[in-house]
Amino acid sequence: MTNDFDDLLIGESPELRAVVNAARIVAHVDVTVLIHGESGTGKELMARAIHGASLRSQAPMATINCAALPEQLIESELFGHRRGAFTGALTHQPGRIRAAAGGTLFLDEIGELPLNCQAKLLRFLECGESQAIGQATPERVDVRVIAATNRDLQGEVRAGRFRKDLFFRLNVVPLELPPLRERQGDVPVLLRHLTEALARQHGLPGPDYQPDALQVLSRYPWPGNVRELRNLCERMLILLGGQAIHATNLPKEFTEPPVNGPEGDFALPEQGVHLAQLEADLIRQALEKTLGNRTRAARLLGLSRDTLQYRLKKYAIN
Ligand SMILES: Nc1ncnc2c1ncn2[C@@H]1O[C@H](COP(=O)(O)OP(=O)(O)OP(=O)(O)O)[C@@H](O)[C@H]1O
Ligand SMILES: [Mg+2]
Repeated sequence: MTNDFDDLLIGESPELRAVVNAARIVAHVDVTVLIHGESGTGKELMARAIHGASLRSQAPMATINCAALPEQLIESELFGHRRGAFTGALTHQPGRIRAAAGGTLFLDEIGELPLNCQAKLLRFLECGESQAIGQATPERVDVRVIAATNRDLQGEVRAGRFRKDLFFRLNVVPLELPPLRERQGDVPVLLRHLTEALARQHGLPGPDYQPDALQVLSRYPWPGNVRELRNLCERMLILLGGQAIHATNLPKEFTEPPVNGPEGDFALPEQGVHLAQLEADLIRQALEKTLGNRTRAARLLGLSRDTLQYRLKKYAIN
């Protein structure tokens, strides 16, 4: 069955399907959602899909990018201001919260919200009342909040940059978008879909990716995730539309691994290394990075899950 989610969020990997299924379930329930993921993993796309599938889909979705505004402007952008509330406040401004009334408020890059605004936002989330700057009494506004960040908010809480109470209030339903390098098999699927869509948009014939090119792209670590893949699709379409693409036709950054990168040459230090210790240490780091998920840790290390299990036993790591 296709619906908004399947049309928007392309990918067949179990890693993506799991989070899409969770998003589909929470879309219908009026709860706060916190989307986390690296840059370019589709957080905004997912927020739109959730709004589109929710009971509020006919009402507006208002977005505020907390990273894009200077600190002094965020509060008035969110809550609005009355004319004359401060120098330069020439007209009444309703603010993004009111603009989203009945619908969804998308707080993008929530990790960048200044601490003083965090306090005011928390108050709004707890009592549903929004007070414009210069307004005597707060007003009830009904919105559903979706927030997104590429930061580790718990780390930000520990560092004192994000309020713990606000974190818990937002983190009712956390959704984790996996990085593209951890979505098994999604690179060719996305490549095909994005190329088809872009080819239609530009009225150009799509390039034909050959197995050797697909292999190179499937191994590439995609630091910019789906956004980077989409940009590549557009570049190849415009430069090589209608042609067969081999690995040698790909831009250099995809075929030449970065030094010390995943496929790069690791330089042995003069004094040598203790290989077993290094291996045990890397395994521990992979487990830490994946919060103990052995399948994902194995993938980060280029091992099968069984081989990782064997080595965990060997080094007595658990
Ligand atoms: N699963 C997907 N299927 C199709 N397109 C996708 C998918 N995920 C992301 N994209 C596309 O990739 C681009 C980046 O997505 P989006 O802006 O949602 O990422 P983001 O996580 O919000 O990134 P940032 O943290 O940098 O703001 C967009 O063009 C979006 O349409
Ligand atoms: Mg975004």
